[in-house]
Amino acid sequence: MKIQKHLILATSLCFALQSCDKILPEGPAENEVLDGTVEGLTIEEQLFFGEGDEAFAKVFTAEDGLGPIFVETSCISCHIGDGRGHPFSELMRFALVNPNGTFDHLEAYGGPQLQHRSLPGFLSDSIPTMANGTTALLAPPSTGLGFLEAVPDATLLALADPNDQDGDGISGVVSYIDPPDFYRPFSFNTANADGKYIGRFGRKAGAIDLLMQTVGAYQQDMGITSEFLPNEPQGANIAAHEPDVSTEEVQAVVFYLQTLKAPERRNEDDPDIIMGQEIFSTINCSGCHTPQLETGDAEIAVLNNVIFYPYTDLLLHDMGPELDDNYTEGSATTAEWRTTPLWGLGLAPDAQGGAYFLMHDGRATSIDEAIQMHGGEGSNSREAYNALSESEKNQLIAFLESL
Ligand code: HEC
Ligand code: HEC
Repeated sequence: MKIQKHLILATSLCFALQSCDKILPEGPAENEVLDGTVEGLTIEEQLFFGEGDEAFAKVFTAEDGLGPIFVETSCISCHIGDGRGHPFSELMRFALVNPNGTFDHLEAYGGPQLQHRSLPGFLSDSIPTMANGTTALLAPPSTGLGFLEAVPDATLLALADPNDQDGDGISGVVSYIDPPDFYRPFSFNTANADGKYIGRFGRKAGAIDLLMQTVGAYQQDMGITSEFLPNEPQGANIAAHEPDVSTEEVQAVVFYLQTLKAPERRNEDDPDIIMGQEIFSTINCSGCHTPQLETGDAEIAVLNNVIFYPYTDLLLHDMGPELDDNYTEGSATTAEWRTTPLWGLGLAPDAQGGAYFLMHDGRATSIDEAIQMHGGEGSNSREAYNALSESEKNQLIAFLESL
């Protein structure tokens, strides 16, 4: 009797499923989603990616070691759908710039990052009155980062033009960062004379690699300690204890970030989009948003010597006074920002609630507005854009939306 019932249920479900094809809208196409792996991972690698995917989505509670002070409770609460972050999950950093130009991250006052939430019984951070520089930051997309991590230092040094020797108004410098104790360089990373390494992740390129970025995020964004950063965030005032997150979990998240696929192009054969791509080079957007890079000898086989299209040089550029928040990290000046990779730009609204929130704090709500905010080294390109005809502007924007 029972079996029969199941049979009937299964058959009617089959019928239902067949007709579902016609009723339900189709899911998004493969090139419209950001989640998914780079091609060619082994089965073991796919499983490790899955572990990292789960850990990236894990919501921490007080029992798991959340806080006592924190900003959010999971990586994906800010990195929604692996796309660009929304202003509702922005984070704040603050500092004091002294009259002589020296910079104080106010660690004694809980700086540089504001943990504005806390567990019951704990006092969250507030921005101290002496802070004269604050910045709001939105999460950058988390796709294709393994490729960016595997670009040899030599490539970035070759792209840099600190004294603007080619006279195009664009200099571009590498960010130099003090390596943390746990840092282990890849074969293509070398220290400068002061023992600093090139930073490439974060809006100010303040993190050297994805491990440094990940354990910093656990600690600073969620109050989650690890073997790598065993202390609670500054200002938490609780004693050291066992790490909240295991080393394997950290490594799985790093592997997940390293092997998330790069965003795929859409409609790239459309004639307007092809025209837009030419305009992008003609007005020298490509002077910073370098279309093509190549990885070196990566430790993950599928990332080895691959050509990819991120539209960034990973360098710092002075973007003028309007974007200067009087806050900085590493060797960057307060007006300098890392060139944002433009891949996945057209998919930004999918993760941002149907609208655009562009630039480091989301102050631009359209691509046109983002371009208008390019000052400093970006001024020549902005003016060249403003001199385009309406239809050329539309072609350029159509190209950007196809990334
Ligand atoms: C409170 C929101 C928030 C949470 C939670 C958060 N992030 Fe982020 N993430 C950001 C912001 C903002 C940035 C840019 C930071 C900067 O400029 O230094 C960022 C940057 C990054 C980057 C660098 C991307 C790039 O293009 O340079 C990676 C990788 C990253 N986060 C991974 C993680 C991981 C892994 C976790 C969880 C352990 C996490 N994030 C949790 C907001 C968040
Ligand atoms: C001098 C280097 C430089 C040039 C030239 C340049 N950009 Fe940018 N671009 C940047 C930097 C740096 C940022 C990040 C600024 C910030 O976050 O405040 C950025 C951000 C953007 C963003 C926002 C991306 C996002 O996800 O938030 C867009 C869109 C953009 N640029 C498009 C263009 C276009 C189109 C051109 C040509 C008209 C151009 N850029 C020329 C350096 C440059």
